[in-house]
This record gives sequence, C-alpha cells and structure tokens, in this order.
Amino acid sequence: MFDLILKNGTVVTPGGITETDIAVMNGRIAGLGDFSSAKKTIDCKNLHILPGAIDTHVHFREPGLTHKEDFTTGTLSAIAGGVTTIFDMPNTDPLTITAKTLQDKLQMAKGRAWCDYAFFIGGSADNTNNLNVLEKMPGCCGVKIYMGSSTGSLLTAEDDIILSILKKCVRRIAIHAEDEERLKSRRHIAEASHDVKDHPNWRDAETALMASKRAVGLAREAGQPIHLLHITSADEMAFLSDHKDIATVEVTPHHLTLSAPECYKNIGILAQINPPIRDKHHQEALWKAIRNGLVDTIGSDHAPHTLDEKDKIYPDSPSGMPGVQTTLPIMLNHVNKGRLSLERMVDLLAHRPQCLYQITGKGRIAVGYDADFAIIDLRKSNTITNKWIKSKCGWTPYNGITVTGWVQGTILRGSLVMWEDEILESPEGRKVILGD
Ligand code: DOR
Ligand code: ZN
Repeated sequence: MFDLILKNGTVVTPGGITETDIAVMNGRIAGLGDFSSAKKTIDCKNLHILPGAIDTHVHFREPGLTHKEDFTTGTLSAIAGGVTTIFDMPNTDPLTITAKTLQDKLQMAKGRAWCDYAFFIGGSADNTNNLNVLEKMPGCCGVKIYMGSSTGSLLTAEDDIILSILKKCVRRIAIHAEDEERLKSRRHIAEASHDVKDHPNWRDAETALMASKRAVGLAREAGQPIHLLHITSADEMAFLSDHKDIATVEVTPHHLTLSAPECYKNIGILAQINPPIRDKHHQEALWKAIRNGLVDTIGSDHAPHTLDEKDKIYPDSPSGMPGVQTTLPIMLNHVNKGRLSLERMVDLLAHRPQCLYQITGKGRIAVGYDADFAIIDLRKSNTITNKWIKSKCGWTPYNGITVTGWVQGTILRGSLVMWEDEILESPEGRKVILGD
C-alpha cells in the first residue's frame, strides 16, 4: 500500500505531458501508472501536476532584517505559490560569508521552514581563500558575487578579486552583474530627479552589459562557469548567445511582466528593483530568449521591504519586491496567453535549476525523486491581492491583477502542505543535498 496516490492528473514529466497516476512512498515518487491502493488519495482530475518549483533566488532576510521577512514567512509564501525548494541569498545582517554565519542560518531554519532550502555564501575579498571549503559545506548551494551595490553591503567590484574567487571555486558562481563604477558615476541622475522613473536611466542597459561582459571574460580566464542572475537587456541577450559554454542565464517574472514607463506610473516606487525594469524593447528580447532556449532558469529575486521603507524619497527608497509566491500564477498566466509552453515553464522552474545546481532528487516527476509537486488548475482565474500574500511585507506588485492559472495545492516530500490557499501540516522543510 502506498502512502499517497495522485489520481487522474495530467502530469508534466521529463518525457512530456501525460495522463497518469503518481504513487508516493516514504516521501519519494514510487511509480507512474495506474494505482489504487494508498493511505490517502487526491483526485487530480482536470488538474496539472508539475514538479514543485525550485526558486534559486530569494532574499528571506534572516538574520538581521526580520521585520521584512523571516524563514517562516518566506517559506510559507513559497509553498502558497507552489515553490518547494528555495536558495536564499547572503545579503543578510550579518552577511553570510563565513562558516559560522552559514551554520547559524541552517540552525535558524531548522524546524521553521515550510519548504526545502539551501544558502548562498557571499564571495568577497575577505573570504576568497576559504571559499572552496565554504561552497562545499552541507546546505550551501554556492557562491554569490555582487559586482554592483544593491541592498546590503556585499560588494565585489574589482576584477582581480572576482577572478581569484572564480579560480578558487568549483561550483557554478551566481553573479549580480551591474558595473559599480558606472553606477557611481551616474547616481546624480537619480538624485537630480528624485523620480523612480529614472531608475532604468541611472542603472541603464549599458551598466548591465558592461558587467556581464566583464563577468564572462573573467569566467573564461578562470575556466569557471557562471550563472548570470536577472538579465534584463536585449544587449546582454545578444552578447550571451555567444557564451553559452561558460555562462547560464536567469530571468525574473517581473522583468517578463512589468515594463517601463507604465510600471513606474502605475505602482511607482514598488517597481524599484535592481537591475531595473526596462522598456518593452528589452522585455521582448527576454521573451525571445525564453522561446529560443537561451534562458536557463527563472528566479523570483524575492526581495521584500516594508511599505514604510518603500515610502522613502527615491533614490533613498530600497530596491526590491516580493515574488516567491507569485512566480507560478504570473508564469501560468503567460502560458495561458501563449507566451511559452507549460513544458518550457517547467524546464525553467524545475528541470534546469535542478541540473544546473546538481540538486539531488529534486525537480523532476520521475521514479525515485522527491515527491514535491505543484498541483495546478490551468483554467482557474483569480485575482492576486496583498491579502493573499504570506510574506511578512504584506504586498505584491501585482495587487489587483487577475491571472488565469492558479496553484491548487503544494506537496512537499509527500505531505500536502497547501490546498486551496489553506496551509496544512507543519514546517517540515530541510536542507537539500547538492552534488559537485
Ligand atoms: O532590487 C534588489 N533587491 N536587487 C538586489 O540585488 C538585492 C535585492 C534586495 O536584497 O533587496
Ligand atoms: Zn537578488
């Protein structure tokens, strides 16, 4: 007798979309086929079953900034949106740059996380010599480098330091690519206008392209692959199409969905994020890169700030917006609009992240893999509201937007943790295991 059977669902497997039952035993997928005997059965007729989404880019703010978010609220927000694994960024307070700060984070997450997790270590001049050890610690998914300053004090702008980090590590390094010198030399644009619509003028496409080019050059010199986060411009996509052998590419749902100048008119400072939301010309290039395969992963860059903080006068207002809970509804809506296929969406949110970061037993609906699922009603229309958001910040840039495609349920290693927007069970999240 199985622990759980998902009956009559339409299942997105690595081999394609197929109608099959899924049997679950001891938290793992035990079989795909026709099954009838289990302790619990969930009827998934008219529903799609996808691998639980893997969001390899969130900022859950613990420790130090827990008035914005903490492990409990961040991971609740994740499972409410069908995300079953998250990778958390190191720009916390203190920064996650030592073995001790990483271990502290693992300790803090224990028993409080609703989904599975791993943590990035920040790469800086201070810890370069130790990064080969740190990147391999249990619970560490790799090294993150900020080439341009953003929220927090983590900044590694100099080529020689970036190069020595790249040479030191074996894991693929995640990079925020904005050129710090150009950012500094253009900040006067934002300070002169105090208008958030100038955010993409200050942090312009050239700022992003310059840093992405430098990062690729340094990766080549070191012979070390990189993952370029939140790519925003047509220019970068054109450049990166010649460098797939060394650089993989992330885009975000907000850069695919919101565009300038409308977003700054409609939601003002709530649209302020780094790198910025740009105009339609750039957004079209991101969609083209989704369709032609250039993009590898979608990460939410979930970066919550309180509304009070966001209320400061630009550019003193903090950059970032929440997103872990809205990734699937927003992307499913794009699927319904015909902008990408359901299979490609699953590729970007589960198959590629699993492969790229070598996450053991995750991201595929296949026998032996963890029973992590997002159960989807592709036809359900629903309105995204601030009230629905579980993140401590309590808001979303999509407040009031109606989407078609909704997450009906979330299953983490065989436990139904969310059904029809209700949270069930208890926080059973644990650290994921990563290969080399
Ligand atoms: O807008 C951003 N916010 N970009 C980042 O790189 C960091 C993030 C945050 O942590 O707030
Ligand atoms: Zn980020």
